[in-house]
Amino acid sequence: MRVLILGSGGREHALAWAIAASPLLNALFVAPGNAGTARLGTNVPVPVIDLDGLVAFAQAERIDLVVPGPEGPLVAGIVDGMAAAGIRCCGPTAAAAQLEGSKAFTKGVCEAAGIPTARFESFTDAKSAHAFIRRRGAPIVVKADGLAGGKGVVVASTVAEAEAAVDALLQDGTTVLIEECMTGPEVSLFALCDGTDALYLGSARDYKRVGDGDTGPNTGGMGAFSPVPGFDPAPAMDQIIRPALAEMAARGTPFRGILFAGLMLTEEGAKLIEFNVRFGDPECQALLPRLRTDMLAALLAACDGELARFSLRWSEQASVAVVMAARGYPADPALGTLITGLDRVGTAVFQGSTQQDGDALRAEGGRALTFVGLGANLAEARTAAYQGVHAVHWPDGFCRTDIGL
Ligand code: AMP
Ligand code: GLY
Repeated sequence: MRVLILGSGGREHALAWAIAASPLLNALFVAPGNAGTARLGTNVPVPVIDLDGLVAFAQAERIDLVVPGPEGPLVAGIVDGMAAAGIRCCGPTAAAAQLEGSKAFTKGVCEAAGIPTARFESFTDAKSAHAFIRRRGAPIVVKADGLAGGKGVVVASTVAEAEAAVDALLQDGTTVLIEECMTGPEVSLFALCDGTDALYLGSARDYKRVGDGDTGPNTGGMGAFSPVPGFDPAPAMDQIIRPALAEMAARGTPFRGILFAGLMLTEEGAKLIEFNVRFGDPECQALLPRLRTDMLAALLAACDGELARFSLRWSEQASVAVVMAARGYPADPALGTLITGLDRVGTAVFQGSTQQDGDALRAEGGRALTFVGLGANLAEARTAAYQGVHAVHWPDGFCRTDIGL
């Protein structure tokens, strides 16, 4: 098998690591990759948004399977482009990627399939949005409809805050969704889907805020742990994942790839907050080291509609992933700072946006390192992950100290 992974973060380094362990693998390419993926395969200088360039590369290199990491190329149609060239690509088509690309689309799927989620209305004009907010009262949730990189959601505790959020979003010309505010602990559920069947890939909890104790601005994710203790995936697989697959198939746009459900465990049971159509970063780094099944074989089975005959095995261990980011992240990460001592680190470490510079690494983006510890329980896994953090030398990097607590 000749495999091409798309992306450059810690998630893609973890995917490359898992796929590199497969006996089915003959050659591994990562576009554009990072210093970590360069050790496992060949980095290819094609950006993930250059769909034509990626298809041309995959044809020239006779790639058997493309594995996209981020949502951007999926929503833009990389699966459709590869399919037209006769190349398997493990992910949803552009039509099916609307489950992440449009929150209004997802709400329509939920309504049609009876999937539990927050009640909502969508608006394109401020006057009716304000009137709706006043009728409903606070707390209330305001969201941008399209991809917003995690920045499009305001959980407003007052009517004035909600109205200001609506005004800001409408100024950019986006449709806004106004939702009932749900309460309860959050769990991220991952499922591997082949259009008809779904296999549970695990649960995780992530840490979105930059600072300890969930303070400061939202980020892509500063850490995660897996599995979530006490979480039973069966009801969510039956009431959320499988009905979504059935509805997508009935619409003629079957969903293949990774379906990531953000859930809120309310008093009335698990409800859907949102779907993503890919692995989370850093949830992927926490999940994959627990997998005891060949990841490449699993992705191929998903592409070929053969998950009904496939099963996944997992380690009983808990895992904790701690992200180290460059000072200034998320607003303005310091670029080009030096990381040394990574070879001394006993813990698994996945790199994101790094470049090799002699024996050292340079961090060329925000979230440069994810340390992953495994252990008999969360406390042991946490200790192992932070041992890695303490062993590396990166004066310009920082992390949260409360991941997995
Ligand atoms: P999203 O980008 O849709 O995942 O939303 C980001 C975060 O906003 C979620 O992880 C929740 O913490 C929060 N959130 C989103 N929708 C709701 C809702 N309807 N009720 C309460 N919290 C929400
Ligand atoms: N860590 C959240 C995400 O990747 O969407």
